[in-house]
Amino acid sequence: MKSFLLLAISMVYMRHEDVEAQSIETFSSGELSIGNSYLRTLEEILGVLPKRCKSCCYGGRRYRHGKVVDTFPRKCLHLYCYLGRIKPYYHGGENECGCCMFNGTMYLNGQSVPDICVRITCQDGQWVSSGLINSNCKLCQVWNDPFFVTFDSYFYQWHGKCNYSISQKHYGLSESFGIYGQFTTCPWTSSQSCLEFTTFTDSSGAVVQIDHLTSGLPVTINSVLQTLTTTIQTFPSSNQFFNILAWKWGNCYIFVGTQGFVMKACRDKLFVWAKLVLSGQVNGLCGHYNLDQVDDFTDRWGNMWPLSGTPFAFPNSWKTTSQPSRCPVASGRRRRSSDPENAEDPCQADQPELDNIRAACETLLTGVQWNGFTPSVDSFEYAVSSCVATVCTMNQNGTSQEVVDEWKGRMQVMLETTVENEAVTVDFDTLDNTTTTSSIPETSTMLLA
Ligand SMILES: *[C@@H]1O[C@H](CO)[C@@H](O)[C@H](O)[C@H]1NC(C)=O
Ligand SMILES: *[C@@H]1O[C@H](CO)[C@@H](O)[C@H](O)[C@H]1NC(C)=O
Ligand SMILES: *[C@@H]1O[C@H](CO)[C@@H](O)[C@H](O)[C@H]1NC(C)=O
Ligand SMILES: *[C@@H]1O[C@H](CO)[C@@H](O)[C@H](O)[C@H]1NC(C)=O
Repeated sequence: MKSFLLLAISMVYMRHEDVEAQSIETFSSGELSIGNSYLRTLEEILGVLPKRCKSCCYGGRRYRHGKVVDTFPRKCLHLYCYLGRIKPYYHGGENECGCCMFNGTMYLNGQSVPDICVRITCQDGQWVSSGLINSNCKLCQVWNDPFFVTFDSYFYQWHGKCNYSISQKHYGLSESFGIYGQFTTCPWTSSQSCLEFTTFTDSSGAVVQIDHLTSGLPVTINSVLQTLTTTIQTFPSSNQFFNILAWKWGNCYIFVGTQGFVMKACRDKLFVWAKLVLSGQVNGLCGHYNLDQVDDFTDRWGNMWPLSGTPFAFPNSWKTTSQPSRCPVASGRRRRSSDPENAEDPCQADQPELDNIRAACETLLTGVQWNGFTPSVDSFEYAVSSCVATVCTMNQNGTSQEVVDEWKGRMQVMLETTVENEAVTVDFDTLDNTTTTSSIPETSTMLLA
């Protein structure tokens, strides 16, 4: 028994050299009650003491061994539970200060989060956006009166007037994160539907809601109305470990979630970027994201529908459980739905008329630019196609010229926002290889409670 004990002691000693040094020889089986952490490790192995001795009590909560119990980003310090004791860990050394936290990781002053979809850098304890987007992320777009381009770049229209999953984890009705869009009849044209509310729920517990139809685009986070500015704020601020980040970007708002989504919400347009790690993980109106277009019309029950410009069964399956009174509530049961595969194309114009509308739309959108940048070929084509569809239905419905003209202005603004995004999308790997210095130590990821 004694030799086994000594063996156990020496094993522990080798593994935990940083714990107070104590001579192995002083221990024997009769000395198990000595209260130091070195001995506790031994006791742990022998199962002599109750399990709770491994954990720490901090701020009224119990934390397991190895877990971080608190962080002090301004001092680059975190406290963690080590065999029942609270120990400090200084990132970058004791003299470092002005660190920032994101998603459970502490970043030093000057360091950027390397692999998210927007570039944010820690500057003296405050996240700062450099206004750049990561080209390694995929983009899904939704714009009035709704047109979609999936993560895998398929363009279609869907004019449902309910609440749908734009992109969510897996297929369920209450997954831990997702972006939802509620559409309603556009106030200026009854024929089509417009973004009414966008909701972004994150695993961190944050729930963001944007009211697209109220001027100024009010944003609530966890039901509290927020005034966002160009300064990056963290929500919910009570949890230093896992926060979402939010700020104002031009006339839009940007939200960085903890699971790999970044959402930019504008009045008439929504942009969602997804990290490649979400590939195969997320579904909804933005399609089954996996870098392959063919299965983009995968419905909530896993059925794959053929791609078409005017789908019905696929988008309709993505209704959520919370619906406005005008809509039926989605049910969890798998329905072999009687929904038709396709919706009727709302534009019934003949070819000559379509050609006229297209020429007018091309004229309208040619020349839209941002800081000298012009749209990509694809973005220009999406903008023209959606302009044709909208103007066609407006003409059919006898919409007044005044409304049509206002709408044309908004279509130009939407394209301009798209061009801005394209202009600031860069490869972060190249950026990091040319700008970072080897003096920045590696970021330490922590084990969190
Ligand atoms: C507008 O046009 C759409 C599609 O053509 C039609 O379904 C709708 O009833 C029309 N609405 C009005 C108010 O004319
Ligand atoms: C945040 O951390 C979790 C767990 O480590 C990870 O799965 C997720 O991808 C991280 N989020 C981002 C945006 O990097
Ligand atoms: C839409 O559905 C989602 C998911 O159920 C929900 O979180 C969100 O609050 C709903 N939107 C509105 C405006 O109620
Ligand atoms: C950047 O550097 C990393 C590591 O040194 C390398 O793996 C990667 O290929 C480089 N990327 C580019 C775009 O040069």
